[in-house]
Amino acid sequence: MVALSQDEIRARVEALGDWFHNMDLNGVATAPDHFLHDYPRNKFNRFAHALPQDLSGMSVLDVGCNAGFYALEMKRRGAARVLGVDSDERYLAQARLAAEVQRADVEFRNLSVYDLGALGERFDIVLFMGVLYHLRHPLLALDIIHDAVADDLLVFQSMQRGSDAIHPTQADYDFFDQEHFDAPGYPKLHFIEHEYAGDWTNWWVPNAACSQAMLRSAGFEIVERPEAEVYVCRRTERPKPAGAVYPAAPKPEGSRR
Ligand SMILES: C[S@@+](CC[C@H](N)C(=O)[O-])C[C@H]1O[C@@H](n2cnc3c(N)ncnc32)[C@H](O)[C@@H]1O
Repeated sequence: MVALSQDEIRARVEALGDWFHNMDLNGVATAPDHFLHDYPRNKFNRFAHALPQDLSGMSVLDVGCNAGFYALEMKRRGAARVLGVDSDERYLAQARLAAEVQRADVEFRNLSVYDLGALGERFDIVLFMGVLYHLRHPLLALDIIHDAVADDLLVFQSMQRGSDAIHPTQADYDFFDQEHFDAPGYPKLHFIEHEYAGDWTNWWVPNAACSQAMLRSAGFEIVERPEAEVYVCRRTERPKPAGAVYPAAPKPEGSRR
């Protein structure tokens, strides 16, 4: 395969519209004016040490991969199979160009997080970075990742707003106990009815306690928090059934309802 010249790369980068991932494609920056600067490289630099350096023989699924920055980084660490999925074809086209320029054998597929069950495959590492707050049904997405594709590690990141405190929650409260709901560190998921940061795709933004509680509730044990928004988790059993709506589940033993 003949290598693309810088001019050819620049022309193809520009033809693919605005990039969210700033990547260096043989000297061509894809989003040099990003509002978060050299993103997500600057983010990755803060938690890269928390992921295995050598991924030889491992499989990786990057959910909401965008232009493939993290998927390509995982391939660079030697992963045997890397699949990036996203529901936006525009970003997938960018990811395919990035993989072509970097000559990386990474597959990119148009698939929503809600449809991951269609893959029929589990992965050693699942990345779920920067997607949760873009979803109308965030806990459903975590449940699906747990039930359908995660085999061991989940690397999770979410925008978080509100307090970083963690309020120690009890297993249960009396019906008339209400004060804990107002504690800044009680798990809170803030609903965005309209837009946040000019982006109508922002729906639910957790505080730190809520990110952690949702991960545990979906069946992920948090093993490390290498960066304020990033959690490295291990798949485990879900502490209680996912509920009456999805999937339909019998009433837990000893439940009052
Ligand atoms: C803020 S970007 C994060 C990109 C990348 N994971 C990162 O951390 O830099 C959110 C991405 O999630 C994708 N996305 C949104 N809803 C999705 C869905 N239902 N299924 C899969 N991807 C989705 C968007 O298209 C976008 O590429």
